[in-house]
Amino acid sequence: MTAPLIDPFARAITYLRVSVTDRCDFRCVYCMSENMTFLPKKELLTLEELDRLCSTFVGMGVEKLRITGGEPLVRRDIMTFFRGMTRHLDSGALKELTLTTNGSQLEKYAQDLFDAGVRRVNISLDTLDEQKFAAVTRWGRLPQVMRGIDAAQKAGLRVKINAVALKGFNEPELPEITRWCASRDIDLTWIEVMPMGDIGNEDRLDQYWSLKDVRREYENHYTVTDLAERSGGPARYVRLEETGQKIGFITPLSHNFCESCNRVRLTCTGELYMCLGQEDMADLRAPLRDHPDSEAPLEEAIRAAINLKPKGHDFDYSRQTPGGQMSRHMSHTGG
Ligand code: GTP
Ligand code: 5AD
Ligand code: SF4
Repeated sequence: MTAPLIDPFARAITYLRVSVTDRCDFRCVYCMSENMTFLPKKELLTLEELDRLCSTFVGMGVEKLRITGGEPLVRRDIMTFFRGMTRHLDSGALKELTLTTNGSQLEKYAQDLFDAGVRRVNISLDTLDEQKFAAVTRWGRLPQVMRGIDAAQKAGLRVKINAVALKGFNEPELPEITRWCASRDIDLTWIEVMPMGDIGNEDRLDQYWSLKDVRREYENHYTVTDLAERSGGPARYVRLEETGQKIGFITPLSHNFCESCNRVRLTCTGELYMCLGQEDMADLRAPLRDHPDSEAPLEEAIRAAINLKPKGHDFDYSRQTPGGQMSRHMSHTGG
């Protein structure tokens, strides 16, 4: 392994999030507009190129690889890529290979993912109500996702539900979602809605439900204990003493967590974004394609990029771009 990746704020970069496609079979109202224009497929890195890039990062100290999108499982032949990454788990260089998915294709892929070495999967699910699910995803079908969750658990994958906290939408469902997760032995993480990308007519500020209020809601019904543990991601966790259940909170707006950031994000076209909430990025496609037989230029480009990692994001609903609200969609960098 070469020298580890350390950014200007002495943070070690050990977590790479990789968006393998900007496409998705849903159109969640807080994430995308109804009429999205997606990249022409020929602009995407090939699976071989993605493998080479990820392998270079693993060689530079990345221990956790999270595959995202869009919806990663709609990318054609994506299992070939997952199976390719198994060798880094086998060698011990990679500690975790995982993905964030909307669950729509999990029924088909859960067992293959487990066989490739995936042990944990984060599934986005904001409501347990079929009609509300169809409304928030614009055309998703809840039973299909439920079958995906069943298949994941049957295959032995640990499941975590990511629910975006949406005022007036899933607010009344908090007790039911919490109980349902406990009954299925599923972890639950709430996420504050972030101002990313033009989503048409929806107003995210109206939907924004601070996780401070979500926590208070839990405190009204449970004994809430803070936990010191972290999953290597941005979530902070609490335990509900009455059920023993662990609940995660991802609070980019109400409580910035950037001081412990350990991650960077690769897009499906080979851009490396140093922060979800900043525009700085570096092109890794050129060093990748221009030097097919030498790793040095790619490693050099990665180190130069990490040197530019900013201290943190500037999300702020009271400010327009740049910074406060990002023009880029979440699906571009995979969340
Ligand atoms: P775990 O490994 O289970 O901790 O997963 P994770 O939280 O790292 O990944 P996941 O894809 O489940 O992310 C959940 C949410 O956290 C997504 O909405 C991401 O956009 C958001 N998120 C992840 N990292 C960051 C970050 O560095 N900054 C901000 N603002 N949001 C982030
Ligand atoms: N703010 C917060 N979370 C979002 N996601 C998508 N768009 C947003 C947004 N604007 C979530 C999805 C998924 C994760 C990858 O990102 O629900 O759980
Ligand atoms: Fe697709 Fe996830 Fe965005 Fe929903 S939040 S549209 S499932 S990428």
